[in-house]
Order: sequence, then C-alpha cells, then structure tokens
Amino acid sequence: MDRIRIVGGHALNGSIPISGAKNATLPLMIASLLTEDDLTLENVPDLADVALLKRILANHGVDYSVAGKRRGESVHAGETLTLRAKAIVDTTAPYDLVSRMRASFWVIGPLLARMHEARVSLPGGCAIGTRPVDFFLTGLEALGAEIDIDAGYVVARAPGGLRGGALRLPQPSVGATHTLMMAATLTRGDTLIENAAREPEVRDLAECLVKMGAMIEGAGTSTIQISGRDRLNGAVHEVLPDRIEAGTYAMAVAATGGDVLLQGARADLLTAALDALAGTGVEVTSTEGGVRIRRNGSGVDPVSVSTAPFPGFPTDLQAQFMALMTGARGTSEIRETIFENRFMHVQELARLGADIRLDGQVATIRGVSRLRGAPVMATDLRASVSLVIGGLAAEGETLVNRVYHLDRGFERLEGKLSACGAEIERLRA
Ligand code: EPZ
Repeated sequence: MDRIRIVGGHALNGSIPISGAKNATLPLMIASLLTEDDLTLENVPDLADVALLKRILANHGVDYSVAGKRRGESVHAGETLTLRAKAIVDTTAPYDLVSRMRASFWVIGPLLARMHEARVSLPGGCAIGTRPVDFFLTGLEALGAEIDIDAGYVVARAPGGLRGGALRLPQPSVGATHTLMMAATLTRGDTLIENAAREPEVRDLAECLVKMGAMIEGAGTSTIQISGRDRLNGAVHEVLPDRIEAGTYAMAVAATGGDVLLQGARADLLTAALDALAGTGVEVTSTEGGVRIRRNGSGVDPVSVSTAPFPGFPTDLQAQFMALMTGARGTSEIRETIFENRFMHVQELARLGADIRLDGQVATIRGVSRLRGAPVMATDLRASVSLVIGGLAAEGETLVNRVYHLDRGFERLEGKLSACGAEIERLRA
C-alpha cells in the first residue's frame, strides 16, 4: 500500500487550485440514471470515489466517456464526464459495490423513479458511525414505494410509478435529500420535502436537475418543492468547487504559516469554517480569484467549535480543525454532533504529540508548543487529511499509512502541497 512521507516545518506559500466538489459530483453522476439522454459534467475531480461510481453506474447500464486531462492540457482543469443511461440494464446495486461507497445507495431514488423498481444493498456501517438509511425508506414510502428488506437488500417497488407526496426528514440528511429530490422529479404530482439538508451540493444538484427539465423550488433552503415530470432530458453542468478541500488547505496554511491563494474557492460556501479560522488570528480574505489565507510567524489562538448541518461548521472539516487546534496557544473544545464515531484521528494525532481528551462527543484539545513527526494510520478520508496537516506542522518525518483513504477525496494532494513548499511525497508500495 502507498504511503505519504512528510517532513514538517515548512510554511506554505503560493496558490492551490481547488477541484470540483466530490460530494456534488457523486449525486450529479447518479442523476444521469434519470434520463436516457447525455448528461455532461464539467470540472469533475479525478478521485477514487468517482472512478468507483463510474463502475457502479456502468453496472446499471450507464455508458460514459471522459474528455480532458490529456497530456499537454492543463492538469488543473477537471475532467469532462459524459454519462448516458440510454437503457437501464440492471436495477440491482450489489453488496460488493455499495459496501465500498455509501453514496452509491442513493441510486435507489432514480432507479425507482425511472424503472419503478430497485434492489439496492444496504450499505452497512462505516468507520464514522452506524449511518442508517431509515429516512430514505420512509421518504420513498411517502412517494408511494413499497419497501421490503430481503437478504441485506432493500427491495423497492412502485408499480405504475412513484407519485408526489409530503414528507419531513427527522434530521436534515444530505443523502436522503439528494435521493428523494431526484426521485420526486420523475413522479406524478407534487412533492414537498421539509427539514431538507441545505448544503450547497444539494443546490448544485437541483440546478443540474432543473437544466434536465425538472421543476424544483427551494433547494438550498429547508423546504424543497418538486413538481414531477414524466421524463427528463440531458444537460451540461459544471460541478461547484470543493468547499471541504478548500477548508482543508486553509487549515493547513493556518497550521504551518504562510500565504496561499485557494484558487476558485468560494468563501460564501465556507462561512462558518472561515469565521472559526479568523477567530484563531489567521488572515482570511475573499478575493475575486478565490480565498487568500495568511498567517505570519505568530501562532494561532484556540477557538471552540461545534459541528452542525450547513450553514454550520461542517463535520467534514472537524478533524482538520482539530489538527490545527493541537498547536493553538491554549485550550479549545470541539463537539461533533453529526456522526457518533468521528474521532478516530484523535489517537493518531496523539502519536504526533497532541494533547486531546475525549469525553463522549466532545474533544478537549490543549495546544502544545510543537508536534513531532511519527508513523500514523489513516482511518477515513477526513481523518487522514488531518494527519497530513499534523505532519506538515510537526517537526521531523511523518509517514501516513493507508493512503487510499486520501485518494477517495483529495485530488493531487501531494502535488498541490509541494507546489507551495511542503516537503511531501508519495512512497509507492
Ligand atoms: C454526506 O453524507 C456526505 N457524503 C458526508 O461526507 C458528510 O459528512 C455528511 O453528508 C454530513 O455533512 C457525501 O455527500 C457523499 P447525512 P450522508 O445523511 O448524506 C443520520 C465525506 O467525508 N441519518 O447528512 O451520508 C446519519 O446517521 C463524507 O466526504 C439517519 O439517521 O450524511 C447522520 O447522523 C463522510 N438516517 C446524520 O443523519 C438516515 O436515513 C446526517 O447524515 C440518513 C441519515
């Protein structure tokens, strides 16, 4: 297995191009199942999760082609991915694929809406928590689906097609909002989703669906209204920039010091995290080209945060912010409210010398004057990158094992960081 070797202690200076958002790309790709026409997505990041979803969609009969990223072209431009679900050849999403990426469960919405049946493996638990799918199932039932669980599979049927319905999510789940919104576009009648997730990726998906002919209002707020259609058409859509990637590099710069322009990053998608960073004493400036992060020689002040659904502080930046707080001038508290087990980075950060006490969903971090490099183990995507941040700030060498977690969600991580002066390389297995 590949490893990443970091020699810490270098400030980051320069600019980092921000890729298209992984968590927008995945539902956008899944939306291709709703139409027999071409769906072309621009600014698609080159990530392991995107590659896996191509395979999963191909299994349902989706053809795809990729343009861009050819030799001689700018490596910073994302791929242009065209997906075409002319005919759905299989409405089953098997365990061996769904268990590798939870978001693939979301195919249940479009498959059921278009084919009136779907058999999708339950995704199972994952490293950050149990992550049940009850909201999806209740929501699909509200749209007229009949649901059975059989041998680890959700078997969903809608003889004659889905119909509109009114539903309220018990919690603003991102995946349930994506899935139910997609399903509701191809129904008879009107659908109302209350307590919907307000994440920017939901709005991005809705904008693409509208280009495909869907009728959606309110995406990006907690109430979404959809008027069902009998067919959708193709579209061309550019994926929005990855706010979590941008926030991650912002925290890396805050941890090492330096001056970096996050090219293409949008401050309006990152308000809570940038406010927290500004509270630590880091200079945050929104410019036309992106977001500039600057920290001079002085350290960072402690800031306490609590994760929350958008527009709150994102759970996907909790680990990275914790890595930053390990070196703060004082004590901070980080409360995780979205997932019950998203603290696996704590013991690995401790291997770098961090002083963190965990009590239920609250981590208390006492800043130390310096971290020291060590071998560490990546456990999930965002936890892994928090170890990279720790390694960049630490004295000496850090070796991050199980790098495949990073490859799921960070495009050219070593390249982007080393271009700004970091000493970081991939050691191929
Ligand atoms: C999405 O996951 C993201 N994944 C996650 O990013 C992100 O951490 C999460 O939203 C929260 O922002 C993608 O977009 C691909 P949820 P999702 O449903 O949709 C509970 C990353 O690192 N819940 O909003 O799976 C659930 O257990 C990933 O990029 C139920 O109880 O998250 C959690 O506590 C990790 N029943 C809460 O809702 C359900 O049926 C929010 O989860 C559904 C969810």
